[in-house]
Amino acid sequence: MKKIVVIPGDGIGREITDSAVEVLKAVDKKFSLELEYETHDAGGTAYDKHGTPLPTSTLDACKAADAVLFGAVGGTKWDNVDAKLRPEKAILGLRKGLGLYANLRPVKVFDVLADNSPLKHDLVAGVDLVIVRELVGGIYFGDRCESEIKDGVERAWDLENYSVPEVERITKLAFETARLRGKKLTSVDKANVLATSRLWRRTVETLRAEYADVELNHLYVDNCAMQLAVNPKQFDVIVTGNLFGDILSDEAAVIGGSIGLMPSASIGELTSLYEPIHGSAPDIAGKNIANPMGTILSAAMLLRYSLKEETAARAIESAVERTLADGYRTADIYADGMKKLGTVEITEKIIERL
Ligand code: IPM
Ligand code: MN
Repeated sequence: MKKIVVIPGDGIGREITDSAVEVLKAVDKKFSLELEYETHDAGGTAYDKHGTPLPTSTLDACKAADAVLFGAVGGTKWDNVDAKLRPEKAILGLRKGLGLYANLRPVKVFDVLADNSPLKHDLVAGVDLVIVRELVGGIYFGDRCESEIKDGVERAWDLENYSVPEVERITKLAFETARLRGKKLTSVDKANVLATSRLWRRTVETLRAEYADVELNHLYVDNCAMQLAVNPKQFDVIVTGNLFGDILSDEAAVIGGSIGLMPSASIGELTSLYEPIHGSAPDIAGKNIANPMGTILSAAMLLRYSLKEETAARAIESAVERTLADGYRTADIYADGMKKLGTVEITEKIIERL
């Protein structure tokens, strides 16, 4: 048996992970994958129950599993909780604790949804890119100070730092990803201002010769943000640091019509973790209207990368695509003439198509 730890988290996390597990069970029946599931708490829900957003038992279970399927964490309910105990600490702790240094965020525009994009149809039809985001370094994990008084004024600070080995390992993975795709890599930094970015760019350059078959270019992050809006088709693989990757991947996600569709894989030293890139959306939690597709497509990535079940992964992806092609939509991607369904009902349509 292959053990999958399921962490629903907060908000819509329960609904979307339930959907993805239903889909995994259906695909298991078809391909005899022999999956078993173990559910664990994390996030605000875990804080309420155990006094910590990431119980040791959850992290230990992840370490012992074959893969982790994660929903989402966070919510206004915990806005005033001490910074060290915020729900977000759960996912950050899992990333660090599992050594998940690389976050792959693919953006592939489904033809039938190209009109849902806030960008013009011709600009987005055919977009197929991957953002490779460094996930356990940079300003997210540097020293910080929540508040100090200096010269009579209060300030806070967060430190950005990157080492050469950290940049090397993520860059190698990005080059290797590009090698299997369009053979084009764009490294994104802010080397005109930041020391960390200059080290980043220098380190990426040292690997150029080793991957001579891949075309490499560099962009400043502000320019990259603009290029994603004016000509997203120019990109194949984008590699960047933790904070820039966080911001650019939300921007890139809407190119495809909705952030609710976007999956991700976090891979590294131990068990890999799969999660949609959207948040916990507490405003729509429990209403059966969340789009489960980002999580379902994350489950497909789990089959592909952790379990090496490419055929089963493709079966899920094509079932999602056919569900969309048949006109079924959740509220976030609804358009005139389509059939609007809830979380549970659209999951049933996907399973029928499997
Ligand atoms: C993401 C999220 C997280 C991040 C939050 C929840 C800490 O926005 O996965 O992109 O900033 O990395
Ligand atoms: Mn984010």
